[in-house]
Amino acid sequence: MSVARIHITPADAIWDLDEVSDGSEPRSRCRLMIQPDPYGLNEVCDANYYVGNRVSSHEHMKGFETFLVDNGTLEILSLSKKAPARKGDIVHIMPFTPHSIHCIEDNTIWRAFHQGLWLTDFIADERALRDRHRDFFLSPEFKAANAAYDKSTWFDYVLPECRDVPPEQLPCLRPYDFGLADYSFEGITLKLKVGRWETAGLKEVWQLRLSGGYKLSWEKTHPYVHLYDVYSGSVLVRLENMEPFTANTRDLLHIPKYLAGSIETLEDTVLLDMGCKGYLTRFMDELNAHKHREPKKLKDRAFIRETMKKNDYNVLLETL
Ligand SMILES: [Fe+2]
Repeated sequence: MSVARIHITPADAIWDLDEVSDGSEPRSRCRLMIQPDPYGLNEVCDANYYVGNRVSSHEHMKGFETFLVDNGTLEILSLSKKAPARKGDIVHIMPFTPHSIHCIEDNTIWRAFHQGLWLTDFIADERALRDRHRDFFLSPEFKAANAAYDKSTWFDYVLPECRDVPPEQLPCLRPYDFGLADYSFEGITLKLKVGRWETAGLKEVWQLRLSGGYKLSWEKTHPYVHLYDVYSGSVLVRLENMEPFTANTRDLLHIPKYLAGSIETLEDTVLLDMGCKGYLTRFMDELNAHKHREPKKLKDRAFIRETMKKNDYNVLLETL
């Protein structure tokens, strides 16, 4: 098996297109990093914006967007409020949530993880049409027929009037240090960034703060694709029948199911588990209860494995 498309660095974009569709801002880019699976999960693209670039106010009737701010600052406008989203913050947009994004710092990068949107196919098709038939693309007739204006899946709002609020008062905004739930064990702190109830039950999103030398591992029976983002730090990745490799800050790990492996931190590292299919919230809640009521249980490997199995969470956290 090849490491290609398993270890994805920021330079490994599948395509790199200008983000503003009328061609007026060629500096802004959209880079496709991972194509969605047949169910529309784990579509990943990097948006690179400059001051003045905006995503106009809209809502989706289907599909979920989870944005990681990887550099710079965005202003998020939603539901009559606005607040800055800074490096390390996560924004999670659910269906029927009006939202607009304004870039307020040059060279802002936000990494978008989509679920059920297939948005990058749409962008690539639209740019191809623009480059071949520019006049038609810019015509009102095209805009009227454009799928993005299909009122059954997408609704455009006028520019909203919003008041400034602290970031924690925007329900879609999850600041770097904030967790919907927080758990801490030796060598690892876990913060729940997006709950399963916010993804139609398909996945959870977690921030894992790991000390240097910490190891995550799984067996060949692991039934789910992994999608990790190395937010900061670096890790050594070992996968069955492959040469070990190092993944650094801003790299993505898109690891197939049924492939044994491990991830070991080479320094203090923050990993984002962007596609956690297993029930890690249930697993953590159960372990946390034992941590406070019967701590010796956490040293019982058979108990830990049994609890993992019960909650369909299949990655062994080293210190448990
Ligand atoms: Fe959107």
